[in-house]
Amino acid sequence: VPLTKPSLKLPKFVPDASAFISSCGEGDRRVFAVVSTRVAMLFPGLARSLERAGVKVIAWGDGERCKTAASKERLESALVRSGADRMSLIAAIGGGTLLDLCGFTAATLFRGVGWIAVPTTLLAMVDASMGGKTGINTRLGKNLVGAFHYPEKTAVWLPFLETLPAREKKNGLAECVKHGLIADECHYLQSLNADLEDPGSVRRLVADSQKIKMNIVRMDPFDRTGERNLLNFGHTVGHAVESASGYRLRHGEAVLLGMAMECAASFVDGHCDQLAFLQVKRDLLESARAAVLKGFSPGDIWRFAARDKKRRGGTPWYIPLKGAGSPAFPPPHLAPLSFNTFRKSFKLVTG
Ligand SMILES: NC(=O)c1ccc[n+]([C@@H]2O[C@H](COP(=O)([O-])OP(=O)(O)OC[C@H]3O[C@@H](n4cnc5c(N)ncnc54)[C@H](O)[C@@H]3O)[C@@H](O)[C@H]2O)c1
Repeated sequence: VPLTKPSLKLPKFVPDASAFISSCGEGDRRVFAVVSTRVAMLFPGLARSLERAGVKVIAWGDGERCKTAASKERLESALVRSGADRMSLIAAIGGGTLLDLCGFTAATLFRGVGWIAVPTTLLAMVDASMGGKTGINTRLGKNLVGAFHYPEKTAVWLPFLETLPAREKKNGLAECVKHGLIADECHYLQSLNADLEDPGSVRRLVADSQKIKMNIVRMDPFDRTGERNLLNFGHTVGHAVESASGYRLRHGEAVLLGMAMECAASFVDGHCDQLAFLQVKRDLLESARAAVLKGFSPGDIWRFAARDKKRRGGTPWYIPLKGAGSPAFPPPHLAPLSFNTFRKSFKLVTG
């Protein structure tokens, strides 16, 4: 019963994506594969072998523009016209945007059908395909409408990463760095030094990052008790930078800057010592596009941070760290972020 029982199993590495997807349909349960048009183009054999196995394939444009109410409505019609029913299983094959759209569509179509996640970007493998959050954007903001609807299974086929542009790899790597910073210093260093051309190293990186996210999700599957706040480390400021840049920065690029600034705030507020802060700042700014910040004043970014979902009584909150791998506070892990601290942190990171 997909709506009530979240599957908290770790994703599975599979040797053949299409064989795995086809094997999920049995008896009355027909599989409807919604594939990113880009992925379908880059891996033409995928749709062919799915169709040969009796899976209905629907190609869908991805990116943030697919996470809209209009796109969801069109997808529902496409699924119903293709013969989907309450027993059907939706297989979402794409990056985080397509997974969010398909998961939310599965949550509401016929009051809920099952779905499986087949992530094709690094970010989706280590983050968006786990934890049950699904949703779309509205004109007023990102991910404003959605539902918890866990995929029944998540399958990782690593060859998808071979066609991923370098900028998208870095985008995903930022979330691995985040997992390390909130939970495990070794994973932090592993992410900073990852060799994404070496298949063994990529597999270890993905598996370790997934374990960290899933351990946190298991403590708080429906984001009710505060444990999951940790996963938002760097995101209060990161989302604000992303919005202030008019989405010219990829999410991961903005989160790297957000993490550097939230580490600076931890230092300014006295939660983290100077040595730990300087080390993390140096590591993060080596790969972040810090020069982007020069185009903003602290007030430009603060305007967006002050509207963050985690604000209480008009003040945004952030997740302070003691150092790499150690949060400063037990759950709910949060501290208020004052404009004064933010202004000083901005100066420390850009100076
Ligand atoms: N539900 C969650 O828990 C969760 C967590 C983190 C992020 N997200 C969401 O994920 C989205 C970001 O995901 P994303 O970074 O994967 O973005 P994305 O889905 O837009 O994919 C990025 C780009 O990579 C392309 N692409 C996908 N697979 C490819 C491949 N194998 N080879 C070459 N190109 C490929 C896509 O066409 C797209 O242009 C955001 O909307 C974010 O809100 C959700």
